[in-house]
Amino acid sequence: MEMNIALLPGDGIGPEVIAQAVKVVKAIGQKFGHKITFKEGLVGACAIDATGDPYPNATHEICAASDAVLFGAIGDPKYDNDPKAKVRPEQGLLRMRQKLGLFANVRPTFTFPSLVHKSPLKLDRVDGVDLVFFRELTGGIYFGEPRGRNEQGTKAFDTNVYSKEEIVRLARMGFEAAQRRRKLLTCVDKANVMATSRLWRETVQELAPEYPDVKVEYEFVDAVAMRLIQWPKAYDVLITENLFGDILTDEASVISGSMGLMPSASLGSKVKLFEPIHGSYPQAAGKDIANPLGTVLSAAMMFDYAFGLAEEAKLISDVVNLSLAEGIVTEDIAEGGKAYKTSEVGDWLAAKILG
Ligand code: IPM
Ligand code: MG
Repeated sequence: MEMNIALLPGDGIGPEVIAQAVKVVKAIGQKFGHKITFKEGLVGACAIDATGDPYPNATHEICAASDAVLFGAIGDPKYDNDPKAKVRPEQGLLRMRQKLGLFANVRPTFTFPSLVHKSPLKLDRVDGVDLVFFRELTGGIYFGEPRGRNEQGTKAFDTNVYSKEEIVRLARMGFEAAQRRRKLLTCVDKANVMATSRLWRETVQELAPEYPDVKVEYEFVDAVAMRLIQWPKAYDVLITENLFGDILTDEASVISGSMGLMPSASLGSKVKLFEPIHGSYPQAAGKDIANPLGTVLSAAMMFDYAFGLAEEAKLISDVVNLSLAEGIVTEDIAEGGKAYKTSEVGDWLAAKILG
C-alpha cells in the first residue's frame, strides 16, 4: 500500500519520540512491502518561533494532503506562566483539530502484563483494565463564543455550546465501538446542572434504540472521576464532551503505570491524526530519555484506524510488549534496572520487527 504520512514533531520531547515512531513505521513498511512517504511540518512553539503562527498554512497543506498525521507534542514553559501571551502554542493544536475536522478523540487505557505493578492503583483494580474514551474534540467550551473579558477586564467568560449534530456524530462512533467491544457505553455528563449536558443525555437516549445490543449507562462526570480510580474495570466505552474528556483522559492514562505509554487517535474526516497522550515534557527535551512507547503505539493505531492494517498494528504492539517484558525501557519505568535511551528503545523495536 502507498501511504503519505505528515510528521509534526512539535515541541519539547516531540521530535525525539516521533523519530522512534518513524523508525518503527519504516521497519513495518520494509517488512510488509508498503511504500511510505513522510513530509514534515511545524506546529506549536517551534512554529511560532519560525513563522509567528502556531499552525502555519504550509503545515495545514501538508496535513490536508496526507493520509494520516503523526503528531508529537506541543507546549513550551515560556508560554505557560504568561497568561497575557497573544499567541500560544496550544492555539495551533486547536486550530489544527478544527481545520482538519477531527471531532472525535479516541483515548484508550489498557494495561501491560509486565507493568501492572507500576500502577498507582492496587493490582486487583488494574489488572485487565480495558476502556476507551471517545472525547468530543472540536466543540464545547474550547470553541464556544462569546469568550473573553468585560471592558474593565475584571470578568471573564467562556461559552459551552453543543448542537445535536455534534453530539450525534460523536455518540454514533461510541455506540459502534461498543458493538465491537464489550457492548457497554457510558455517557458522561453533568446533566443535573448543565443545559448542554441535558442535550447530550437526551440525544444519546434517542439514539440508544438503534443499538439494542449495547447497554447504555448515564453517569455524572464527578462520579466518573471517582469510579475511574475506584473500579476502572467497570467501564468499556465512554463518550463525553471536550472539557470533561480532556480531564478524565489524563486521569485514566496513569492507571496503566506511566502516562508515556498511552496512544490516541483523532478521527472525523479523511485525514486522521495520531499522537501520544503525554505532553511536551520540556524538562526532558533533548536528553534522549523520554519514553517513546506512547508515540510508537500511536503509530500502531495509525495502521489500524487509518489504513485498516490490523496485522501491522498488532506486530507493533507485540514488540512493545516484548520490550517491556525484556526490560528494554526508558528511565521512567526502569525501576532501578538498566535505563535505555529513547533512541535505543526505537532501534530495538525496529530491529525486532525486521528480525
Ligand atoms: C490534550 C491537551 C490539549 C487539550 C491542550 C494542549 C490544548 O491537553 O490534547 O488533551 O486540552 O485538548
Ligand atoms: Mg489534555
